[in-house]
Parts: sequence; C-alpha cells; structure tokens
Amino acid sequence: MEDYRDLLRDLQWLSIRPRVDEELRDLFDSIVKMYLAWEKSLTSFQRLELRILCLKSMQNTSLVYKHSLRFLTVRIDFSDPFTRWSYMFVFMMRHVHLVFYALDQAVYEKILKVIPSGRPTNVCMIGGGPGSDVLGLGLFLMKHGCTSKLTDQVNVLDKCQEWSDSWSQLHRFLPERYSKGIPDVNYHSFDYLNNKLTPEQLGCVEDASIVTMIKSLSPVAAWLKTKPIHQSYVRGAYGQLKCVISEWHSVYEILKAMKPGAFLLYIDNETGPQRQILMNTVKFLKFKIIFDRIFRGVRMPSHFFSSTSRDLMNTLNYKPCTTAGTNEVIILKKEVS
Ligand SMILES: C[S@@+](CC[C@H](N)C(=O)[O-])C[C@H]1O[C@@H](n2cnc3c(N)ncnc32)[C@H](O)[C@@H]1O
Repeated sequence: MEDYRDLLRDLQWLSIRPRVDEELRDLFDSIVKMYLAWEKSLTSFQRLELRILCLKSMQNTSLVYKHSLRFLTVRIDFSDPFTRWSYMFVFMMRHVHLVFYALDQAVYEKILKVIPSGRPTNVCMIGGGPGSDVLGLGLFLMKHGCTSKLTDQVNVLDKCQEWSDSWSQLHRFLPERYSKGIPDVNYHSFDYLNNKLTPEQLGCVEDASIVTMIKSLSPVAAWLKTKPIHQSYVRGAYGQLKCVISEWHSVYEILKAMKPGAFLLYIDNETGPQRQILMNTVKFLKFKIIFDRIFRGVRMPSHFFSSTSRDLMNTLNYKPCTTAGTNEVIILKKEVS
C-alpha cells in the first residue's frame, strides 16, 4: 500500500514538474514583450531608431563581455534602459539557465536536496542586475516540485540601481508562476569597490539563506585584486599569537556577514582573478566548500524560442547567446560554529 502511495505521489510530481525548455521559452518571451510594449507607442521612424540603438548596445555589450573584461577601463554603463534591455536580450537567459543547471547538477550529485514543502527562502543577489539569479533559482525550485511561493524576500545589491526599473517592467510580463512565486525584489545601491558595507547592505546579507554572485565579480575583480586582505598577528590574552584582519574588501565583508547555515552560489568565468579573491577570503572564515566544478560549454536548448521571439531576432538581426563558455561553479555553506 505504501509503495502505491509513493508511486502516486511521484506521478503527481512528474505532472507538475515543468519542462525546462518551455519555461525558458516563456521567460524569454517576457523579455521580448518588454520590447514590444515600447514599440507600441512609437512611430515607424522611432521604431527604426529604437532598433538601431538596441543593436548597437547588443554589439557593444557582447564585445565587452567576450573580450574586454580584463581591461580595467572598459565597462558597460547600465544606466540607460535600452542598454539594460539589450543585456537582458543577449545574456539573461544564458545566466538563468546556468544557475538552474548548476543547482540541478548539485542535486543530481546528491550534494543538495530540495524539500518542496519547505519554507520559501530569503535571497540576496550581489550584482543581481535584471534578476537572472533569482529566476534561475525559481526555475530550479519549480523543477524540483515547489509550487507555491518560491522565495520570500529578495534583495539585490548592485552598482546600478536602475535595474530595479527593468525588473519591474519584466515582472509585469512574467508568467504568473514566477511573478507570484517571486513577489518581492528590493534593489539597494552597492559597489564592490567600497570596502565596508552599510548597515542596510549588511542587513540584506545577514537575512539571506542564499547569497548569489553570478557573473558579477569578474567585472570588478581586477580592482579588488589591488585590495588584498591585510592581516597581522597580535598576542592574545594568554600570550598566544592571533591573526587579525586589519584591512579587508567587500567580498570579505559579505561572506563574514552571512549567517551560519546560509549558502553562497558563485558562478563566474574561469579566467581572471575572481576565484582567487573568493578563495583567499574563504580561508579566513568558516565555510565548507560543498561544490566546486568547472562547467565547459554548457549550452542551453536553443530550439525553445517561440515564433514571436524568433520574429524579433530577425527584426533586430541579433541572436541571444546560448552557450556559456567555461565557468566555475562554487557552492559554499557557512558552517554553524
Ligand atoms: C554581467 S552582469 C551579471 C548580472 C546578473 N547576475 C546575471 O547573471 O545576469 C554584472 C552585474 O554586476 C553589476 N556591477 C558591475 N560593477 C559593479 C560593482 N562595482 N559593484 C556592484 N555591482 C556591479 C552590474 O550592474 C551588473 O548587474
């Protein structure tokens, strides 16, 4: 009897578990709908101007992310809505898929376990931009049987606060299972280059059960490398030598503020100093590295695009990026001391 009940439950789960390519299609359609909503109020000449503007932004963003991150001076300015949308069109789904894929792989390897009826989590996305990190997490949770609220509170710490406008626009077009499942996203201004976090930023990190750093450390890693953690040794009360940190950078502050039991999901390019920055920091704090892999050429299914999306790709004469190059995926868990 027990066995039948188990089987029934499994079958129910199977029927509600989404097909990943259909989910990706619907999420990408929401990005497309943002553009179509802009177009609606424009004359045909303005539409042409919009197309040219976005095409230029997409070409420029792709160039920087593919080739120029190692140069300190070349950075994308996300303050205008069209550059932000262009990033979303070209890169966002690739990152949603990467986050989903990494977490799914960790479950497959029995490193993580999802409890579908568990309480929704608080998430803090460092450099979370348009919300790729939380949508990837949402897709992952749905695939593993979560059907109600996917997250509780979500805080984004990002240099560009205007991402908040892009998220609000996208949120209107998201399938209900995401817009209702991820109800609350708050944006806070934050710059990796400032060593010390403000009380507001600290609060966001302290409250989170999951902190994400998805492709946000690499754009600033070269700068952070110039701010090593300075340590010195002092004598403790009983004459023993104690290591104290006299100067640190923001990554150290973030990891230090995380609560015991919280997870950090880090995904970034294999090349560049960012891994070292993270790992040097971990050395000083009590973290367990539970997953540390290199993912080569993870490709998201490209057959999923809807006909509306394909029409827009043709109109813009540009395609979203579907391969992810070589990335490091690290999952850390703060130890309960
Ligand atoms: C490549 S995007 C990644 C966004 C998102 N995590 C994703 O995977 O799609 C890099 C993000 O880092 C943010 N960023 C760039 N420099 C930053 C800095 N100095 N401090 C904080 N965030 C920064 C950008 O605004 C952007 O949201």
